[in-house]
Parts: sequence; structure tokens; C-alpha cells
Amino acid sequence: MQTVSTRATLANAVAALKSGGKTLALVPTMGALHEGHLTLVRQARAHADRVVVSIFVNPRQFGANEDLGAYPRQLAADTAVLAAAGVDLLWAPDLNEIYPAGYATTVSVAGIDHMLCGMQRPGHFDGVATVVLKLFNQVAPDVALFGEKDWQQLTIIRRMARDLDLSFPNAAAIIGVATVREPDGLAMSSRNRYLTADQRARATALNRAMRTAAGAMVAGEPVAHAIGALRQALVLAGFDRIDYAELRDAETLDALTGWDPARQCRLLVAAQIGRARLIDNMAVEPALANPPELVSNG
Ligand code: PAF
Repeated sequence: MQTVSTRATLANAVAALKSGGKTLALVPTMGALHEGHLTLVRQARAHADRVVVSIFVNPRQFGANEDLGAYPRQLAADTAVLAAAGVDLLWAPDLNEIYPAGYATTVSVAGIDHMLCGMQRPGHFDGVATVVLKLFNQVAPDVALFGEKDWQQLTIIRRMARDLDLSFPNAAAIIGVATVREPDGLAMSSRNRYLTADQRARATALNRAMRTAAGAMVAGEPVAHAIGALRQALVLAGFDRIDYAELRDAETLDALTGWDPARQCRLLVAAQIGRARLIDNMAVEPALANPPELVSNG
């Protein structure tokens, strides 16, 4: 695996990878890699001849009081993991390569960036959209892969690609990959390492309560009741704050007051426990009438 950290060397490396008409997949990350990222890499390999992973902790998507300083940085370990996973190229720019002196442009996907996570994290999705568009322009991939755990992020990136006529003519070129979970259901996240052992045990309540609420909606319980019970379960489990727990249209992110089997519905939750703000989401669909069992950690 080749690692490059300047745009000049990136351009040459990308041209070499694409020679002979090879297709290229991009997996953008902020590092601190876990099994979720490696699943994106494996999926990328299935969709293209060559795989590029980027690692860049993007300051523009962190708010003033957020964890930019504390965000885990482990480039050497991540590089080894990506090399072992068969990645062709690692793009690991420093700050000045992405935002050189005088940098002034922001991409804003208005509307869907101000709800849900955007309410608590003003400017977050502007930072995401801006850096992702830059990565798309720098690497010019045929496909790009993102985890469904960040459902709002995925929705915003798809909307940006459509609105700006990016070289992905259809949203299918931006591939959402199903959330990778621990055996007890907790969605994998680089921020899970902020959890103490006790908080980690209690954090399992999040996905459990979501599955219960989603199943109740499908069984006909009013959405407001099911979400009320979900919130109560999180409070009982010791979550410190619930930023949101909502049923939304999966594509437009419009708020829904009732579950509609004819519509793609998504339950989205963000809640704080200790230092970790956990987010999760799931489809609320008829198949939930027969949910699979998860392993309990006791
Ligand atoms: O999901 C992430 O890790 C980041 O938001 C992304 C897409 C790499 C942009 O910085």
C-alpha cells in the first residue's frame, strides 16, 4: 500500500491506480479505524478494482466545545491495518493540504443539515459536505462508501452529489453500508472508546430500546408512545441526555408522526452517556415483526 500526504503525489498515485481503465473506490474516514471501517473497505473492493482510503480529522466538522483535540489519532496503527486489508492507497493529508492559507469556501446542504444532529452541532454538516466534496474532487472515485450509522451524513452527501451534478450521476454511486455492530447490538464507533466499562454495559440499552420501539411501531403502537418508552428506557439505563429520538422519512428526513409500511421510515436517535455522544438508526419496516435475536453480554 502506498501512503501519500500531498496533493501533488496524490494526483500521480491516483493516475497510476486508474491506468488501464481500472475503477476506483474511495472510503473517507477520520481514522481510529475499527471493524466498521474494514467492512467499508471490503465492500469497496467488491465495487471497484482499486481502493483508496482517506484519513483526515476534519476540524471543520467539530464544534467549538466538541472533541477535536481528544479525537483519537493513530496513523501508524491505522496504516498497518489498511495495508493488511489490501488497500491500494492511503491519502493522509495534513491540515494545510486540505485547507491552505486563505481557504474560504463552505458547502452547505440547506435544510436537512439543520435538523437532528445539525440542531446540536451547528456547522457540522457544512464541514462534512465541504471536506467530502474536496475528497471527491481530489480522488475522483467511481464509487464512494459511507457507513449507514451516520444516516443523516449519508443523506446529505447523496443530496450534495445530486444537487451539484457530481460525476456520480445517480445516488447509487454513493454506497451506504449497513452499520456494523458489536454482538450485543452497540453500533461500532471510534467514539465508543470514550465509554467506561460501566457506561459500555449500559450503552447496550440504546439499540435494544430502538429495536423494541421499532417493533412496537410495526405492531401498530402510536409512534409517540413507542418513542416515549424508548426515551424512558434510556433514562433508566443511565443515559445523561437524549438529543433526539425520532421517526423520519429515510430519504427526505421529514418528521413522521405515524409509521407507514409503504414508506421508507427510519428511527434515528442520539444520546449522551458519559463523554460519548452515541448515534444510531434503523429501518422501521414490516420485517421487524420477526426480529433476529442479538447476543447479550449479560
Ligand atoms: O464519517 C466520517 O468519518 C467523516 O464524517 C467523514 C465522512 C470522513 C468526513 O470527514
